[in-house]
Amino acid sequence: MTTNKDSRTRFVRACRGESVDRAPVWLMRQAGRYLPEYRQIRERASFLEMCRDPALATEVSLQPIRRFGMDAAVVFSDILLPLTAFDLGLDFRPGPILEKPVVDAAGLRRLKGSIATAIEPTCEAIAALKRELGDEAAVVGFAGAPWTLAAYLSESPLSRDLVQLNRWTYQDPKFVEELLDRLADIVSETLRLQIEAGADAIQIFDTWAGVLSAERFEAVVARSLRAVIRHVPRDRTPVILYARGAVHLVDAMVELEPDVLSLDWRTNLGAVAKQHGQRVSLQGNFDPAALSLPPDQIQSEVMQLLEAGRAARGHILNLGHGVQPQTPVEGVEAFVRAAQSEEAYSDG
Ligand code: CP3
Repeated sequence: MTTNKDSRTRFVRACRGESVDRAPVWLMRQAGRYLPEYRQIRERASFLEMCRDPALATEVSLQPIRRFGMDAAVVFSDILLPLTAFDLGLDFRPGPILEKPVVDAAGLRRLKGSIATAIEPTCEAIAALKRELGDEAAVVGFAGAPWTLAAYLSESPLSRDLVQLNRWTYQDPKFVEELLDRLADIVSETLRLQIEAGADAIQIFDTWAGVLSAERFEAVVARSLRAVIRHVPRDRTPVILYARGAVHLVDAMVELEPDVLSLDWRTNLGAVAKQHGQRVSLQGNFDPAALSLPPDQIQSEVMQLLEAGRAARGHILNLGHGVQPQTPVEGVEAFVRAAQSEEAYSDG
């Protein structure tokens, strides 16, 4: 039997498909409005102020770890924060709003500014989390994928089907290519700085990849995403790739060779584990809405999901998307308890 001596090791080993005693657990958006202690801080500060204050960002990243003891802490920030390097008039209400979206080549040329300065508070928070947590939990850094950032840059507020960006992929493919290449550089720089600050793993969020067909994903998006993944020093820091509504993109995502593929709740994790689980570890994919079930039902659903995940070389238990603000705290507690219960251990 393997016993992992600490959560940080357990997490990184699961990413790489090395043997672990049980699947590590964390939740996307685990720091957020469902927690009363988060809402208390949020009453005094705007979301952007919280992201820009390393002490506040560190504090809210630690809140769920103190309460539930997940195996990983995700740094409190946002995928749009690097873009505050530019004069775009970004605000959150609570979704991102840009006063000055980028709609042409001239707009693209105006994207000049220091990414390092824009995400300095995030990097400071990562360093503080490392000091505070030691090996007690892995620290996860993150960035948006070029396509998802391009969506928020091109249209504000963003339409559900990315009407603007999708049209450009046909009308002006050269502009879209330039936009994605520029964003790939920004994302690579963001991840490099977070890794330098001490992130144990990084997650790339391609929340909007699912609007594309597999063919369009290959033709339009894959190149810039591959460039981002290739820039990460993989021997040091594993890469987790998340896409939402992307059952049809699983094969294409596996081809990009992330260490971990993070599935949304609509994908059958057991089926992907059987098909691709020897090449890639899996993360997910509990339905966030199911956190409203009674604790004993959460326990049994988690056990089924862990069973399905055993067909993969590694499984990190997580949700299929972020925790919703209406989620009962008891649901999150039951989820983490189940993941760490005796039954969840490989010989348990
Ligand atoms: O997971 C965590 O706990 C870390 C923090 C985190 C946030 N945003 C905090 C946040 C992470 C990893 C993100 C990523 C992010 N941001 C994504 C990709 C993941 C996904 O959800 O698909 C996207 C698309 C964004 C852009 C964004 N920021 C949106 C669409 C919204 C509004 C959504 C909502 O829940 O209302 C935000 C705001 C935001 N980002 C909040 C938080 C905690 C709510 C802000 C508040 O407290 O008012």
